[in-house]
Amino acid sequence: MSSDAGSPRKKLYIETVGCQMNLLDSELVVGKLRHEGYELTDDVELADTILYNTCSVRQHAEDKIYSALGRIKNIKRDRPGVSIGVLGCMAQKDQGQILKRAPHVDVVIGPGQLGRVSELLDAARAEGKPQMAVSLPRTGGSRDAVTASFAEYDPLREPAMRPNPFQAFVRIMMGCDKFCTYCIVPSVRGPEQSRPPGAIVEESRALAGQGVKEITLLGQTVNSYKHADDDGQTVRLAELLERLDAIGGIERIKFITNYPNDMTDDLLQAVRDLPKVSRYLHVPAQSGCDDVLKRMKRGYTVELYDDMMGRIREILPEAAVSSDFIVGFCGETEASFRKSVAMVERWRFKNSFIFKYSPRLGTKADTLHIDDVPEEVKRRRNNELLAVQNAICLEDHARFVGQTVEILVEGPSKSSANREVAPGEFGQLTGRTTCDRIVVFDGPGRLVGRTLAVEIEGVSAVTLFGRAATLESVGAGA
Ligand code: 5AD
Ligand code: SF4
Repeated sequence: MSSDAGSPRKKLYIETVGCQMNLLDSELVVGKLRHEGYELTDDVELADTILYNTCSVRQHAEDKIYSALGRIKNIKRDRPGVSIGVLGCMAQKDQGQILKRAPHVDVVIGPGQLGRVSELLDAARAEGKPQMAVSLPRTGGSRDAVTASFAEYDPLREPAMRPNPFQAFVRIMMGCDKFCTYCIVPSVRGPEQSRPPGAIVEESRALAGQGVKEITLLGQTVNSYKHADDDGQTVRLAELLERLDAIGGIERIKFITNYPNDMTDDLLQAVRDLPKVSRYLHVPAQSGCDDVLKRMKRGYTVELYDDMMGRIREILPEAAVSSDFIVGFCGETEASFRKSVAMVERWRFKNSFIFKYSPRLGTKADTLHIDDVPEEVKRRRNNELLAVQNAICLEDHARFVGQTVEILVEGPSKSSANREVAPGEFGQLTGRTTCDRIVVFDGPGRLVGRTLAVEIEGVSAVTLFGRAATLESVGAGA
């Protein structure tokens, strides 16, 4: 049921937590709902539909949503016509429990059922009772049946939901089959499925037509991408990158997140040989200790990860590599933690995302192992690893001083509170190099979306600070 042309537009408020996959899902949900007559608002008090797109990877992300649901209880009490929805990973994980904990919720929709969002919101209103749509559990039927219950959802693109009109995410894979013991993703996002290369190319072409210059390919293990083409040939990420590199208008292609075992030489060579592909690889190690990796069931040893890093450094010497680490996983001793520190020191990652282990109900680690590292030890290890990584970032950034780097200007910087900078107005802007380094500089708003040379004058652990080298010429032409 879509709204009549004459009826007032429904006001939609949406909040998204979690990874890039969730940001993309929210963009798609908003795209769909706008076509159904909704309009966006960023004021929850004015909304008549309030959606939370949720994450289950760590407890903290779930706590945030449950407390937000608690906070908006009064909105529902004062305006019972308001619809409240919980979408995404937590919806799939907690299902009916969400309605028990927060009875004012109207729809609960897992990430594999998002295509039904407007239908379910309408049904909840019409029937006056909560609606739930979730996918089958991993053991809930044949692989085909479970896979089919995580429907592909990559319909209309909604430029208005993107942080800027020239960068876009493109999903190339759904789900995950790696089953790392700590991770909830394989249960909440379902079996690994690769989208057909033709659909990905078509979507990317359409995005280029909308003015998108940079696409970031998304997959839980993006480099495991594998799809049998119509002619029976298997297309892998290297071939897909080649097809995308040929699209006019696209200037940069990134892909996240990689799985170490699938980082093949031909993929690294494709990154080296294709001019538009960023020299940036995010390849989570999770731990630098074999015992921990084994308990995590990561499927590789430190030696294998080191071998992969050696190949990256050889084939792509200028590439930036970033990593993820979990500290305080079950049975992580001080000696095992030291090995993670040693790994960060050995490979000098561009940056590392460091997380304290958070037990997830329904995962193998939660049933097989004991969460035996005390919270304060997790916190201390987290801080220590972060400090080691930050010191490396600072040292590595120092060598950029005096160099000129090319960046894609993304918008106003965080320190200018992300306030819009008008085309003719000067403000602090931010952009990224092809190696994903953040560069902040002063310039007029019209540079947003442009590729620009910036001379680096100062650095911090996270940012390069510079001066637009070609400001006069760019400014004159704009
Ligand atoms: N606890 C802490 N961190 C986790 N991650 C995944 N599951 C957990 C968990 N249970 C981290 C991993 C992964 C990143 C997205 O989140 O490092 O790469
Ligand atoms: Fe989770 Fe491991 Fe899959 Fe990554 S590869 S999503 S950590 S199960």
